Amino acid sequence: MREMDRSFVKCGDVEVCVFRSRGGALFAIENVCPHQGGPVCEGRLSGTLVWDDENDRIEWTLDGAILTCPWHGVEFDVSSGAALGGIDMRLRRRQITDDGRDLWVGSRI
Ligand code: FES
Repeated sequence: MREMDRSFVKCGDVEVCVFRSRGGALFAIENVCPHQGGPVCEGRLSGTLVWDDENDRIEWTLDGAILTCPWHGVEFDVSSGAALGGIDMRLRRRQITDDGRDLWVGSRI
């Protein structure tokens, strides 16, 4: 898997997407948006804009760690699963293990 690639696998009857972030971290996320069930893992993996009080300007941050659902545009931090913007939703994440040869997707975390 190359950096920023994503792969889809079936875990029982659930589709799970495995991402590798720009920093090399692995994330496994169920491909069901907690909003209305959209294919969240097919969305853009990018960053987001936040207000920087110290410099009094908008800053681009978390590049490569923000997943945007393609249906209604809710942004999620893939490292925590939490939605941005004060929205009380969270992605369903799975354990992921790299044994040096294969990647193993486990139970929900
Ligand atoms: S289904 Fe994902 S934001 Fe609505």
